Amino acid sequence: MSAAGIEKLKISNFRSYKILELSFDSNPTVIYGKNGVGKTNLLEAISLLYPGKGIRRSSFHDMINLSNNISWKVEALAHRNNNRFEIETSSDGNGRVVRIDGKKVPQNNLSSSLKILWFLPPMDRIWMETSKDRRKFLDRMVFSLDINHAKRCTQYEKLLRDRNRLLKDRIADSSWYLAIEKEMAILGFEIDNRRRDFIEKLNTVLIEKNNYFPLIKLNLKDDPIESEEVFLKNLMNQRGQDLVTGRTNFGPHTDDLQGFYLEKEIDTKYSSTGEQKLSIISIILSNAKLIKEQHKVSPIMLLDEITAHLDEVRKENLFSELLSLESQFFISGTEVGIFSSLSKKTKFLELDERKKFVA
Ligand SMILES: Nc1ncnc2c1ncn2[C@@H]1O[C@H](COP(=O)(O)OP(=O)(O)O)[C@@H](O)[C@H]1O
Ligand SMILES: [Mg+2]
Repeated sequence: MSAAGIEKLKISNFRSYKILELSFDSNPTVIYGKNGVGKTNLLEAISLLYPGKGIRRSSFHDMINLSNNISWKVEALAHRNNNRFEIETSSDGNGRVVRIDGKKVPQNNLSSSLKILWFLPPMDRIWMETSKDRRKFLDRMVFSLDINHAKRCTQYEKLLRDRNRLLKDRIADSSWYLAIEKEMAILGFEIDNRRRDFIEKLNTVLIEKNNYFPLIKLNLKDDPIESEEVFLKNLMNQRGQDLVTGRTNFGPHTDDLQGFYLEKEIDTKYSSTGEQKLSIISIILSNAKLIKEQHKVSPIMLLDEITAHLDEVRKENLFSELLSLESQFFISGTEVGIFSSLSKKTKFLELDERKKFVA
């Protein structure tokens, strides 16, 4: 098993931080302090050591410290096994630059170095959100095992936009469509396949290995796409109907992730608020176990207010699950007392109003 983690972190001009420097070890880090002291901001900065737009999925521009207004930067010294490397990422609001050991690299390279998973309070509500939110949630998990998945999804989305534009402009010439649809068929089939493959693997972990959290089974709403050829035929046959609505009505972009609470034989969208939260925790822990199994590396976990509304027993179960993952994890909360049973080696970081650590 490869131990991966962040040893040093430096944040500049990022959100509420002008400058912040921290060191960590492999033990858990508790980040606590009153509302608005910058707990989520700190987790967000760490999440940028992974591809994408971070835990809040907000624009890079919004991350620039308001009083500085130039650009932000996150620097880290990290390791995977005995291999140490420096990550630097920064943005002036337009895209972001990533450097590993000083060399400019595509941001996707970050995921070959570190795996990062997270929980944020809004994720509690994923079963009540739009299918688009659930697809994003699923695709990010697929990406955690298969780094080509994000590229596939981006390319597909672009083709989809191109096709929808033709539909909106009422273009009837089939040759315009065919070029796009051929590519869509290849990518769409692949995306559907990868999602299903991931769900099958995750379900195995969710059902067999989850000791404490609810047994959940995931499923995709639509039937599997049989082949590229079948999907291409569908797209071609659909065209007339799609011209009426001005958009592409069927494909992996309209599918939906469903959860099934096995204990109660009920769709997770009907579960109680607490049960919905537990189902998401179950899924995230299982995703972490899958990454460990498949990539032989323990993912870094960012857990923002994850203990809120958990009963005492569930909270203790969560801590023992997290410790058994042997991942470096960062967990936030408003009260330090919540974490007293975590581990004797836990690092406690209190944020105060001046954004400095007291402990
Ligand atoms: N770009 C920014 N520049 C300066 N301050 C910001 C920026 N974005 C958010 N903030 C501030 O960061 C503060 C702390 O946010 P947050 O990390 O969410 O707190 P919490 O500790 O409750 O998680 C908020 O008061 C917010 O106003
Ligand atoms: Mg917060």
